[in-house]
Amino acid sequence: PQIITAPDRQAVGREAARVVEAALTAGELSTLGVATGSSPLPLYRALAASRPEGLSEIAAFALDEYVGLDPQHPESYRQVVRREVTEPLGLDPHKVRVPDGAAENPALAARMYEEQIAASGGIDLQILGIGGNGHIAFNEPGSERISLTRVVDLTPATRIDNSRFFDHPDEVPRQAITQGVATILRARRLLLVVHGPTKSGLLRRAFEGPVTPDFPASFLQSHPQVTVVADQVSAQGLS
Ligand code: F6R
Repeated sequence: PQIITAPDRQAVGREAARVVEAALTAGELSTLGVATGSSPLPLYRALAASRPEGLSEIAAFALDEYVGLDPQHPESYRQVVRREVTEPLGLDPHKVRVPDGAAENPALAARMYEEQIAASGGIDLQILGIGGNGHIAFNEPGSERISLTRVVDLTPATRIDNSRFFDHPDEVPRQAITQGVATILRARRLLLVVHGPTKSGLLRRAFEGPVTPDFPASFLQSHPQVTVVADQVSAQGLS
């Protein structure tokens, strides 16, 4: 991958925003893939501040959504994306899609989401974070390289990690709809944003360890256009 390091999370956000801005300027960004969680927040803040020309025209697809959480819940990814991405970046809400985790048939909703991404022409630039267990989107350990958008069970570790967003750990949903590993790898370009002491060592495992479903981020090694923007702590150990 191309690796850009920055001193702190704000600087990581600014550097990552530059990557997005450059893609826009080059006319290579009409559909953006958006991650939720804390990693991309400084990037979204930086983009909200710079509002590069053409930004408001783009379409967006979220990576994932909890299953069985009220779509009005403030921590549903529908709400998080509206609050952190659509509104601050000035995107057209009709062009921003999130999997329907409240659907009566979530498996069908997942397949339809995969089709919607394909029908839109695919994702030009996919923003990613990495989970402590190596997940990308909610592709937990065990996820295959060929996996598509589908319903998955969240691991206990991920539910504990994400309990910080909820009043009580029991409130964290047990399942999610997530883009698959193959779905993510189909994006023309990937932008992985990583910062913070809890992420130390993960990049090394992702990019210098074996490619294995046990650590799904390792599949990123097979993508030809990955940019990693990381702080010093998380980039440590990368050669
Ligand atoms: C978010 C997502 C997750 C997060 C990952 C890291 O849509 O799909 O894979 O990117 O769990 O989360 P943070 O950034 O909160 O450490």
